Formats: sequence, structure tokens, C-alpha cells
Amino acid sequence: MKPERLDKVLAAQSTWSRKDVKELIRKGRVTVNGLPEKRPDRKICWETDRVEVEGRPLVLRRHIYLMMNKPAGVVSAARDESCPTVVDLVPPPLRRQGLFPAGRLDKDTTGMVIITDDGDLSHRILSPRSHVPKVYLARLDCLLTNEMAEGFSRGIPLGEEGTTLPAELEPLDVDLALVTLREGMYHQIKRMFAFYGAGVLELHRVSMGALALDKTLAPGQCRELIPPELELLQKRETPAEASPLPPRSGIW
Ligand code: URA
Repeated sequence: MKPERLDKVLAAQSTWSRKDVKELIRKGRVTVNGLPEKRPDRKICWETDRVEVEGRPLVLRRHIYLMMNKPAGVVSAARDESCPTVVDLVPPPLRRQGLFPAGRLDKDTTGMVIITDDGDLSHRILSPRSHVPKVYLARLDCLLTNEMAEGFSRGIPLGEEGTTLPAELEPLDVDLALVTLREGMYHQIKRMFAFYGAGVLELHRVSMGALALDKTLAPGQCRELIPPELELLQKRETPAEASPLPPRSGIW
């Protein structure tokens, strides 16, 4: 890939403005491959050069892909006036401009969220046409019924938005099920169960595509995805892995 100006790369990679970046560089706070660099127009390669700001290494990537275990009480947005967002929880070394969650979970829903600055990837995994499955654990306030499973497999009418695509409902216990969706309407699972008069007490996303939530991530933690995981994320199948139950949760 073509080398680019140090100040441009740094501003794209961080939450600093171009002006702040120039200032940091001129003050000698930035090193390239271990040596201080005071020229904002120094050309660097995204792939090979090692950049540190005030001694902290910067992850140099054109795009970044993070998997987060979203806790309850946090909104799936880049910014919010009154609530913490998933992007607020991203630790400083991984933070950069333009991060957003690929798809929305409700404030009380927990589990897997992908945070990125790559709009194309987000579209590929969210578009109903790409058929990427998203799997959720849902705990109900009543018993699961065969009628629900049959209805989910046909599609549930959700008013003006029309009927949902066929979804899978696999019971794990009398009131606990795995639900697989291939689209993402507003409050979709809650509204699908509400069609049968059922309330959802807890909802937790366990996978997207063939990629399962990393069970070592505590609620609120995130980590970068590696390239093979990015491939899994875009697959039309669900993960091969057996148990979707999260280890640290309270009432599952
Ligand atoms: N369906 C819902 O109802 N809520 C979510 O957060 C995700 C899917």
C-alpha cells in the first residue's frame, strides 16, 4: 500500500485532530521505528512501520475490527447524550476516529458486538441479503411452546415492517432458547415473542456468522479480531462450537 503522511495516518488512527497530531509530532512525542520524528509530512507505511506516541505503540491498521462483550446498561451507538456507549468502553490504545457498532443491541441486551470503522464490512454482515446469522440466548417470562418454534420458522408479522424472515428457535430449557436471525429489525426478538404474549427477561448475543463471542471477555471488555475471525464473521453458517452459555452471567 502507498506510504502516507505521518500526521494523516495518526489522525485517522486516533481520536486526535490533525492539529493536535502536528503539535505532538513537533514536540518530539512521536517515534517511528524507535526514533523520534518531528516532521508531520514524513511518509510511513501502514503495514510495516512501528509508531509510538508518548511511548505507547499505536495499532496501525487501515480499519480496525473489535469484538466486545457488551454489558447491560450501555447503548450500541458511537455517541449518546445521557448513557455510556460501547465506543466509550473501547480502551485508548484501540480507539480511533469513526468507530461505530456494526448493528444495534438494545440497552439491556448483552453479548457480542462488533465495533469497527469499516462501513463496508458492517453492511456485509448486517444486510438481510447477506444472510449472516446472528444467534441469541433468550430467557422468557413463561414456557416456550411448539407454536412459537413453528411461527418463528415461518416468519412473524411485525406490523408495518412486514413479516420477519424465517428464524430458528431451539429450546435449551423450558424457558430458555437459542434464536437465530438473519436480519435485524428494531427490538426484533422481543417483538417476535410478544406476538405470543411472551416477555423476554434476558437477551444475550452469542455469535455472528460463524464467529462465537470470546468467552474470556468479561462484560465491557473487547479485543481486536484476527484475519481468520473476520472471515468467520461473514459466513452464512453458525459456529461449530457446542455450548453458547456465557460463563459469568447471573441467572442463566
Ligand atoms: N432483538 C431484540 O429484541 N433486541 C436486541 O437487542 C436484539 C435482537
